[in-house]
Amino acid sequence: MKSILTKKHGLLHADQKIGWGNLRDCYSIANKPGLCVKIVKTKLNPTRKLQAFFFWKNTNIKEYNLYKTIPEKIKPYFNPVLEAEKDYVLTEIPRNHDGSFAKPVKRHTKISNKIFWQHVSDLFHFLEENQLWFFDVLNGNNMFVQKQSETDWRPIVVDYKRLGWKAFPWQIYLAFNRGNRNKLRRRYRKFVAKYKAGEK
Ligand SMILES: Nc1ncnc2c1ncn2[C@@H]1O[C@H](COP(=O)(O)OP(=O)(O)OP(=O)(O)O)[C@@H](O)[C@H]1O
Ligand SMILES: [Mg+2]
Repeated sequence: MKSILTKKHGLLHADQKIGWGNLRDCYSIANKPGLCVKIVKTKLNPTRKLQAFFFWKNTNIKEYNLYKTIPEKIKPYFNPVLEAEKDYVLTEIPRNHDGSFAKPVKRHTKISNKIFWQHVSDLFHFLEENQLWFFDVLNGNNMFVQKQSETDWRPIVVDYKRLGWKAFPWQIYLAFNRGNRNKLRRRYRKFVAKYKAGEK
């Protein structure tokens, strides 16, 4: 069991692996139900390693700082980072109204809840209008479905470390706003087509 000495929450023990991405693994924490810790993988493939070295340095700390700058209007859609250091991020696991843990969009397969899709549309339009190029947001692993009641569902984003061109350094067109806008629009269209019930 891996132990992490955090600044604000003392010594924590990583328990079950509850999720993983390209860069980080996510663990529940022994005796702390509802919290999880994300740790940068030690074994990255060579391309990711290079990318991590040049562009994602201090990713965890950046995510923490980014959380603090998210505009109030869309902040409720982002899962709070409680604390972060170079090698970990401590966050909450989003919960539904009945106390169960929320699940990633991908695990729902197709979603028909109208309120949920209205929130996703509001979030996308806000990002587009304010030129906030959060490419990680419209992704079935990074966005969770939080049921605030039986009928009121909303998106909660758990991974928002990448902003703009640094996410895809080899795609040179992202240095321009138009490139970013088109990329965000494509992501939105694909996301809706993939997960919205009744869309192709
Ligand atoms: N707060 C959370 N609560 C529950 N599960 C989470 C949480 N944060 C992350 N996870 C799970 O762990 C996975 C990996 O975390 P995260 O997406 O932050 O890693 P990453 O390596 O940075 O991702 P990517 O592959 O998108 O770059 C997520 O896809 C999700 O399934
Ligand atoms: Mg992710």
